Amino acid sequence: MKQIETGNPDKGLDGLKVNDVAPPPEPKDDEIMVQLHASSLNYHDYGVASGTMKAPEGRILMSDGAGVVKAAGSNVKAFKEGDSVVSVFFPDWQTGGPTVGDFSRTPGDGIDGYAREFVTVPASWFTRAPKNWQHNQSATITTAGLTAWRALVVEGNLKPGDTVLLLGTGGVSVYALQIAKAMGARVAITSSSDEKLEKARSMGADFTVNYKTDENWGKTVLEWTNGYGVDHVVEVGGPATLGHSIKATRVGGSIVLIGVLTGIGGEVPTALLMRKQIRLTGVIVGSHQHQNDFVNALETLDIEPVIDKSFALDDLADAFRYEASGQHFGKIVVDY
Ligand SMILES: NC(=O)c1ccc[n+]([C@@H]2O[C@H](COP(=O)([O-])OP(=O)(O)OC[C@H]3O[C@@H](n4cnc5c(N)ncnc54)[C@H](OP(=O)(O)O)[C@@H]3O)[C@@H](O)[C@H]2O)c1
Repeated sequence: MKQIETGNPDKGLDGLKVNDVAPPPEPKDDEIMVQLHASSLNYHDYGVASGTMKAPEGRILMSDGAGVVKAAGSNVKAFKEGDSVVSVFFPDWQTGGPTVGDFSRTPGDGIDGYAREFVTVPASWFTRAPKNWQHNQSATITTAGLTAWRALVVEGNLKPGDTVLLLGTGGVSVYALQIAKAMGARVAITSSSDEKLEKARSMGADFTVNYKTDENWGKTVLEWTNGYGVDHVVEVGGPATLGHSIKATRVGGSIVLIGVLTGIGGEVPTALLMRKQIRLTGVIVGSHQHQNDFVNALETLDIEPVIDKSFALDDLADAFRYEASGQHFGKIVVDY
């Protein structure tokens, strides 16, 4: 079977290797063998593939994987042969509060991921996929979808009528737009592109602002709420955007910090954060239980993930180059 691995990190994406290897072993008692058919690209995967996040040479890429159960061990109750399944981001965090604070056991980073045609792993490393979804749609759930769900619903307790601020139109933010609209919230979203903002409006975004041409976009969003402030922010930017997000948030609102697009450290307007009594929560994806809850919700929310472009597994490096170009709106996927 085919798999895509990291090569010499100094060569970046040019160093990625396509390898032909023997298929994995038959599953033991608690394991399943999955024929993988799709993955989806995340900023994190790009870091590993490009060599900026150091993973050992030979690491099989990609955190997200979706496919079909080919065989199940004798103790496996959750799945049977033929079931459609999707991988989880933290195989060891099954339920309850967070138990992990790094990527040492995340597929595609600390351990081998799903850029391969077959895998045999414990059944608890996968959840079921939503009924009637294509594999490439399900593959968007593991990282981007679940992070948006956890930020808004698990941590934010989103309610119909709430207001939400989303930053940019990448995988997480577009998912968050869909979840928020499906749950009856009002959404403001930013982008560097007027064309992408138009797309967001066509998906139901109530207010849009170009963060390149409007340097005071936080204040602009605050004005959209008549000075009251939004209830929720899904913060993907980090140091260069957090101050604007705090400005845009209401007293007692929630900011869930999930991204580091503008860097990994910087100044925070602490006095304003304190005066507004904002809840600022750091989040990395979610648990197996969160993913099961999200899959159940997706079946009633009538959401179809937005897939910008699909690539073949052999062309994974090109898929990452496309992601790095920033042209995408929503998710980039790999089909195999
Ligand atoms: N903590 C977690 O669990 C978790 C999970 C998933 C992702 N993340 C993080 O969240 C971030 C986004 O991930 P993603 O997968 O959605 O990335 P992505 O699909 O590559 O999207 C990136 C988008 O962010 C927007 N952007 C870039 N710079 C921005 C800025 N200064 N202000 C506002 N928007 C900006 C751009 O949107 P426009 O083109 O519209 O301008 C860009 O297309 C990354 O830092 C990633 O590592 C964290």
